[in-house]
Amino acid sequence: MQVVVVESEADVAICCANLIVDEVLAKPNAVLGLATGSSPVSTYKQLVQLNQQAEVSFKETKTFNLDEYIGISSSDRHSYRSFMDGNLFNEIDINPNNTFLPDGMADDLQAEAIKYESLIAAAGGVDLQLLGLGSNGHIGFNEPSSSLNSRTRVTTLSDDTLTANSRFFTPDENQPSLALTMGIGTILEAKKVVLIATGSHKAEAVKGMVEGPLSAFNPASALQQHNATVVIIDKVAASLLQHCDYYQRVNHQIVKLAANS
Ligand code: F6R
Repeated sequence: MQVVVVESEADVAICCANLIVDEVLAKPNAVLGLATGSSPVSTYKQLVQLNQQAEVSFKETKTFNLDEYIGISSSDRHSYRSFMDGNLFNEIDINPNNTFLPDGMADDLQAEAIKYESLIAAAGGVDLQLLGLGSNGHIGFNEPSSSLNSRTRVTTLSDDTLTANSRFFTPDENQPSLALTMGIGTILEAKKVVLIATGSHKAEAVKGMVEGPLSAFNPASALQQHNATVVIIDKVAASLLQHCDYYQRVNHQIVKLAANS
């Protein structure tokens, strides 16, 4: 796991967007795994800007989102489809037919989960998976106790997640308590993973993910088993890490090796 600590939330977005752009420049038909929530919003703004400045094109890129709520239609303003259309897809040159999210309104949700896995496999697998981090350590909607080998499936949102996401719903709106999510096993099959986290409310989860034991009660710790994960965090989210100096030395070495190759 490569841990990159930067000054601010804005720097996290720039660093993350640059990694995604590098991936797409190297492989224009790259398959990107994408996330919703507050964390990637600034990264998506960067991608929109770079696309509009013709620095990168997403015409051949395919995307698969991590998750979608069950029981709300894709046109609902709370759906993750609406989030992605509004924050990214409608603003860049991607072909909408190449953007995939699980269908949370499918009659047969189990069949939908299997179909989603098949679509990812048929696309050749995910080249770069972007992740946020729940303050309870979840990735996608793989809540604490999820199997580290789990696949795309229906998941029950934890109380922590329901509370955290209630900020998006008014009291009279129905907040879904179920979702379809890629599993941890699905996520670990991505060739590269980039996880971003900012703010003091993520510090505990960051510590558990990077320096804690591998445990189903800390789903993000599963990334310790992935051999191409970059964690990009701001100083506040990194505040509980014990080995920041070492991570910084590792990063200097990586940059030096890249410059010499
Ligand atoms: C979103 C997702 C979640 C979020 C996580 C962090 O598609 O899968 O794992 O990444 O809940 O959310 P924010 O960024 O809102 O703090």
